[in-house]
Amino acid sequence: MLEINKLNKTFDGIQAVKSFDLHLRPGKITALIGPNGAGKTTLFNLITGFISPTSGEVVWRKRNITNMSPHRIARQGISRTFQQVKLFRSLTVIENLLMAKRKGAYEGFLAALGRRTAFKKMARQHHSELQYHLEVLGLSDKADDPASALSYGQSKLIEILRAAETDPQLLLFDEPVAGLNPVMVETIKSFIIILLKQRGITLFFIEHNIPFVFDVADWVVVMDHGVKIAEGAPEAIRDDPKVIEAYLG
Ligand SMILES: Nc1ncnc2c1ncn2[C@@H]1O[C@H](COP(=O)(O)OP(=O)(O)OP(=O)(O)O)[C@@H](O)[C@H]1O
Ligand SMILES: [Mg+2]
Repeated sequence: MLEINKLNKTFDGIQAVKSFDLHLRPGKITALIGPNGAGKTTLFNLITGFISPTSGEVVWRKRNITNMSPHRIARQGISRTFQQVKLFRSLTVIENLLMAKRKGAYEGFLAALGRRTAFKKMARQHHSELQYHLEVLGLSDKADDPASALSYGQSKLIEILRAAETDPQLLLFDEPVAGLNPVMVETIKSFIIILLKQRGITLFFIEHNIPFVFDVADWVVVMDHGVKIAEGAPEAIRDDPKVIEAYLG
């Protein structure tokens, strides 16, 4: 699984991530919590190759992926979502999901392929599977709508689904339920349980919604000022004085 060893990242004198060690548990759901500016997104960017560490290493299934490009890391089975939703707004919902099925192919190339034969064939192949996934998210009637017509919450659900459609071994979600209404938060919970946990996909997610974290996570990692200040089972973290002082207090 994923191992992070002594990872450091400094931005213009600010140490965003400090000597961070982590071993993710395969098939489990791990949450990363911590105050604003703690370095959580930076850690995700380091894991997925969007930025390079100042020092330290990221090892994925015994292979050193430190400094690998985001594209190559994605092809190794690590998929992610962003704090800001990034859908192809002019493509339909189904087309956005089909793009994910073609992980490893360049987005521009696929966008150009857009409405052509190969794409249509792929659409037929994956149709019932994608419809079922949309149903789990309560969005089956949106399949052929352009992504630009979705509400903020709906786009977020599709962004999460899109990351899952790459058939990853590890999924990283950056604040999956931020800004979602309570019904959608419940939808994401079912999605995680039905479509991720049952398939043994390892999930590592950042979230400020603490009730959600304690509800779905098997393991919780707490970060403050770039440092891992605690990790443990949800019940243990809830009662940890260091965590309460830094964050939950
Ligand atoms: N590209 C960058 N250039 C310079 N500084 C950065 C960059 N990215 C992050 N930082 C700084 O690193 C620190 C950690 O930021 P990061 O975005 O990782 O925090 P976070 O824990 O995700 O916070 P939030 O909960 O608000 O999303 C902050 O001080 C931030 O300003
Ligand atoms: Mg962040």
